[in-house]
Amino acid sequence: MSEFSLHTATQEPELDTAMKVVFQWNYEPEVDELRRLYVKATEAQWIAARDLDWERPIDHAKFAATPLGAALPVEQTSYWKSLPEETAWELTRRTAAFRLSNFLHGEQGALMVAAQLVNAVPHTDAKFYAATQTMDEARHVEVFAKYIQKLDMVRPIAPPVKRILDATLETEDWLKKLVGMQIVVEGLALYSFRQMRNLTEEPLLKDLLTYVARDESRHHAYGVQYVERCVPCLSDAQRTELEDFALEAARTLIDNRNQSALLSAVLQIWAEVGIDAAELFACVERERDELTRHMESGRRLGPVQGFVIPTLRRCGLLSERVAAHFHAFLRENLGSKLVGADVEEFMERIPELPRDTAAWVLGANA
Ligand SMILES: [Fe+2]
Ligand SMILES: [Fe+2]
Repeated sequence: MSEFSLHTATQEPELDTAMKVVFQWNYEPEVDELRRLYVKATEAQWIAARDLDWERPIDHAKFAATPLGAALPVEQTSYWKSLPEETAWELTRRTAAFRLSNFLHGEQGALMVAAQLVNAVPHTDAKFYAATQTMDEARHVEVFAKYIQKLDMVRPIAPPVKRILDATLETEDWLKKLVGMQIVVEGLALYSFRQMRNLTEEPLLKDLLTYVARDESRHHAYGVQYVERCVPCLSDAQRTELEDFALEAARTLIDNRNQSALLSAVLQIWAEVGIDAAELFACVERERDELTRHMESGRRLGPVQGFVIPTLRRCGLLSERVAAHFHAFLRENLGSKLVGADVEEFMERIPELPRDTAAWVLGANA
C-alpha cells in the first residue's frame, strides 16, 4: 500500500463542470412514483461482502460461455477452438477483463452523475432517489473492481466511454444528465448486463450481475418516470436539444467510426497472448456464415433499436426528425441487418418497453 497523499498517481486531471445546485423547501412527497421507487430502493440494498461468495475461485470451464462482446462470436471459430487450452483461457480472461473494466469505469461515471443529480434536480423525491442510486453505483464499482481483480487486472477506459461520461458530467442541464446517463448509458449497460448474465455460467459473475442488473432496472425506471414527467413542460427548442443530446450519446457509444480504439485495445490483448490477429480475422471471414447462422434473430434489433429508442419514445423524446437521424446512423452501422428499410418501417418495428424491466433483465432470453 503506497503512502497516503492528496494527489494520487492514478487520478485524472480535474474536469470542470458547470452544475447548478438547487435547494428545495418542499419536503412532502410530490412525484409519487419517484417516492415509491426511492422506498423500493432503500428496501433492496445489498452488501457486496455479505451477499456474494468471494471465496469461490473463478470457474474456468464455466467462464468459457461468457460472451466476449465482439460483433461475431470469435470464440466459436475453428482457429479459437484449435488453441491450446491455456492460451484460450488467457485470451478469454483478458478480453473479459477489458470488457468488464469498461463496465467498471462506466459505473464510476454513473456514481458521479448520480451524486450530481442529488444536487441538481429540483424535486425532493428525485433528490432522494438519486441518493439511493449513488449508493448503488458505489457498490457496483466495488463489485466489478473486486471481480476483475480475481480475473486479471483493471484495463484502461475505452475513449468513447470516457467521452460520453465527460459530456454527461460537464453539462449544466440536469435533464441532459438524466437523458445521457439514465436513458442512454444505463439503457445500453442494462442490455449488456442482461446478455452477459443470461449467457455466463460462471456462478460468481452470474450472482454479481443479478444484483447489479436489478439495481440498474430501477435506475432506468427513475430516468423513464422522471423524464416522462418533465418533457411536456419543455419548449420545442428545449425538447429538440434534449433529443439531440440523446442521439449524440448513442452515436458516441455505438458508431463504428468510434470503434477503432476498441479494436486496437483488443488486438493488443491478442498480441500479449501471442495470437496472430490476421489469421484469426481470416478464419472469421471463412466461417462467417456458420458463425452468424446460430445468432438469434431477436438480437438483430440490438440495444439501440431494441431498448434505448423505445425508452426515448416512451419519454416523448422521439420526434420524426430525430428518428430519421437514428435510422440514418444505424443504417450506416448495421447495413442490411437494420430492421426497417425506411424511417416509417423502422418506427413501426420499434418494440414496446418491457412492462416489468426487472423481470425482463432476469429473463432467460438473451
Ligand atoms: Fe450501476
Ligand atoms: Fe446505474
